[in-house]
Amino acid sequence: LTSPPEEKGARPQRSFAYLTIKDRIPQILTKAIDTLHRHKNEMFEKHGEKGIEAEKKAISLLSKLRNESQTDKPIVPLVEKFADTDIWNQYLEHQQDLLNDSDGKPRWFYSPWLFVECYMYRRIHEAVIQSPPIDDFDVFKESKEQNFFESQESIMALCIHLRELMQIIEHLDENQLKNEFFKLLQISLWGNKCDLSLSGGESSSQKTNVINSLEDLKPFILVNDMEHLWSLLSNRKKTREKASIVRVDIVLDNSGFELVTDLILADFLLSSKLATEIHFYGKMIPWFVSDTTIHDFNWLIEQVKYSDHKWVSECGANWENYVKTGRWVYHDHIFWTLPHEFCAMSQVAPDLYAELQKAHLILFKGDLNYRKLTGDRKWEFTVPFHQALSGFHPAPLCSIRTLKAEIQVGLQPGQGEQLTASEPNWLTTGKYGVFQFDGPL
Ligand code: F6P
Ligand code: MG
Repeated sequence: LTSPPEEKGARPQRSFAYLTIKDRIPQILTKAIDTLHRHKNEMFEKHGEKGIEAEKKAISLLSKLRNESQTDKPIVPLVEKFADTDIWNQYLEHQQDLLNDSDGKPRWFYSPWLFVECYMYRRIHEAVIQSPPIDDFDVFKESKEQNFFESQESIMALCIHLRELMQIIEHLDENQLKNEFFKLLQISLWGNKCDLSLSGGESSSQKTNVINSLEDLKPFILVNDMEHLWSLLSNRKKTREKASIVRVDIVLDNSGFELVTDLILADFLLSSKLATEIHFYGKMIPWFVSDTTIHDFNWLIEQVKYSDHKWVSECGANWENYVKTGRWVYHDHIFWTLPHEFCAMSQVAPDLYAELQKAHLILFKGDLNYRKLTGDRKWEFTVPFHQALSGFHPAPLCSIRTLKAEIQVGLQPGQGEQLTASEPNWLTTGKYGVFQFDGPL
């Protein structure tokens, strides 16, 4: 590092943000470079010499990027034209304006963490699109698929649970239905432990059957607004006209095991008639290692469909059918891979904001979405969630997130301080989770 962390204005040495930039970013870049190396033969078979040249180019661009980050170079504008290049460069200029520095250049260790982390993933994408003909290569695809395969047993257990539930769902009374809803919500919450960026791209799969651990995990839910979600959806179910639409939108996070838990929840919402339509939002470019792209979404449904286990494969077939018949709708939008916090959405992406306004409930999965919902600010732990959203209220919404960044709002007085005293790293290990709701019921 050219700039020691002790320098004035630098991030405190041991903040999680500092460790991310210092350790995890280089580790993720090294893994991406290694992945490209290992696919050299495949690229040669597909594209001949041109493929080899492209692989070399992408590797050299990524090595340069790693060097820029490790030596705290200025953050440079994007050069390759893509749908979002201008917005990114405007954002970068804005960061520059915020600095009162003599050379006026935002640098890797001296800029907001959220921005730098997003920028790093966007630069990885730039390195790939600058290297045709391998410009559609997803450097994280292998890790995402590995996570799925390593979680096979838990995935099978969840799919079987869902199929069993489907057979009795018509006969469940209100209370039983609510209990099942709560179970699947919690499964989807703990599924968020399995992201690959926290582990630097190393395996983070679900090897045990999470259904059996739900009771033991309950004490780790710090804010639990599940009752609000139930009231909202069950009241709507009781009062709505026969043919009317109830729409739940899910802003997806990680592919692999977490995505399975989200699809199981989405399937249940339709089968229980708590919702009539589910809309999903994924990422347009590979993002934070394990985030879901349209390719991951389709790939995973296909894998489940071709499982050897009859009940598992029935789940996959149903999911494919939901997509075909439009009861599940997948949306892409470039906004999700910009560095902007969500309160800027109505300005930066008014079309997306308008789309979200059509939902009766929006579920935001995962930690990064939480950081963007709350602007990744250093809020007091007791600040109300509604306030931290800073005007972002497209529809009633709920964050379903395990804690992996130093930010949490909406806690009881003293709750955060107590946790800090007993477990200094409680904010960043993914051990704790929240269901945090905002909106009228
Ligand atoms: O904290 C590690 C980290 O890279 C955060 O920057 C980010 O918020 C998180 O991982 C990603 O987690 P998730 O997949 O839950 O959004
Ligand atoms: Mg993620």
